[in-house]
Amino acid sequence: MKLGSEAHKQLLCQSFIETHQEYEPEHLPFPHLNDEELARLHSIPFWAKALDIEREAGAMVNAFAQTVKDPVIKDVIALQGYEETRHARLIQTLINRYNIEMSVRPPVILPQKIEPAFTTFGFEECLDSFFAFGLFGIAKEAKVFPEQIFAIFDPILDEEARHIVFFVNWFTYQQQQNKVPSLRGLKTLWYYARALKNIMGAVTEGDTSGNGFTATGAVTFNIDLTPEKFLSVCLQENARRMAKFDPQLLQPQFIPTLCKIAQKILQLQPKRSTVISTSVLNTP
Ligand SMILES: [Fe+2]
Ligand SMILES: [Fe+2]
Repeated sequence: MKLGSEAHKQLLCQSFIETHQEYEPEHLPFPHLNDEELARLHSIPFWAKALDIEREAGAMVNAFAQTVKDPVIKDVIALQGYEETRHARLIQTLINRYNIEMSVRPPVILPQKIEPAFTTFGFEECLDSFFAFGLFGIAKEAKVFPEQIFAIFDPILDEEARHIVFFVNWFTYQQQQNKVPSLRGLKTLWYYARALKNIMGAVTEGDTSGNGFTATGAVTFNIDLTPEKFLSVCLQENARRMAKFDPQLLQPQFIPTLCKIAQKILQLQPKRSTVISTSVLNTP
């Protein structure tokens, strides 16, 4: 199958639509949490930002869908918009169910340039989701919440995996359609550099509420975790989720490749006893 071909478009759109899951967040079986688990959930500092990001993503992706001329791609992007809005509903349901305190959220403001906003969001999702997969795996293994909580959020991460696989294929398809394939690599690099810059900004400012917060921070659960183990779980979880997709489709490669390089570098370092604390994150 040639990238950028009609067959490529059909496969990427069809696989997205076929793997859409029906569920209503309000009907999900949120479990009873004991006092310790409840306190842990309340101590996570980014629920407000997580809710805002999903609300903004839903509105922006839906608005972008309205501008898309190709009816098949339009339907898929509208479906992604629906799923992002549903993520916001899921977080709102969790907030209500466990009485998490939150101020009234500001209205969503749509970006003026909608297609660049969708593209930037797509690259940031690739970055955030990769770390989200790993941190979710670590938190699940450490049993920081009852299994039912992980069972509720696991399909959300699969949805994010679908979004990023759709995104990298859509981006390539668009580039091929616009006949600028030679710029594809450069453009991709530029967008990833921007997404990384946002995350690094958040790290250096100690900001757990801004862009890239899923990778940078949040709540320490006192799980002993070496950088090597962290990278290895991220790569493992990413590979596990990506294995569900048709191998003919492109998958996000840039961040996993960087992490493999980082892993090799860490293996060459003298063994240290350093541990890093781990964070729990939200889905992008
Ligand atoms: Fe989302
Ligand atoms: Fe998403």
